[in-house]
Amino acid sequence: MKHFQVTFKPDGKRLSVHAGATLLEAASQAGIILNTVCGGKGICKKCTVRLEPDGRKVLACQHHVTSDLTVTIPPESRFFEQKILARASKATLESNPIFTQNIAQAIPPSQSWASPSTSAPQLWLLN
Ligand code: FES
Repeated sequence: MKHFQVTFKPDGKRLSVHAGATLLEAASQAGIILNTVCGGKGICKKCTVRLEPDGRKVLACQHHVTSDLTVTIPPESRFFEQKILARASKATLESNPIFTQNIAQAIPPSQSWASPSTSAPQLWLLN
């Protein structure tokens, strides 16, 4: 079976793939994980890459390798897009829960607390 060289930029990774393999498969073999939201069906367009030297955009999941290629992968097409955090802000989160926890303890009735209507243990909220 015929093989072709595929070079991925800016990673600089180069590998040999068999004719007819998709660029998505080639990228995976090179250890480059692309966004494939639609599972490689050609719908989401998240795996868009550029072919060199003309810069033509193709879907990596749909483009089959039929010659030696150099491919540029834009950051937005990578599954793990690298982002540099230039600024950060200090955020304060307010907590306003719908539910709160209250601890209750059962206290058996005593002679002094017992009334004719209270023969079962009573629950007292402690907080
Ligand atoms: S993975 Fe969705 S278009 Fe390629």
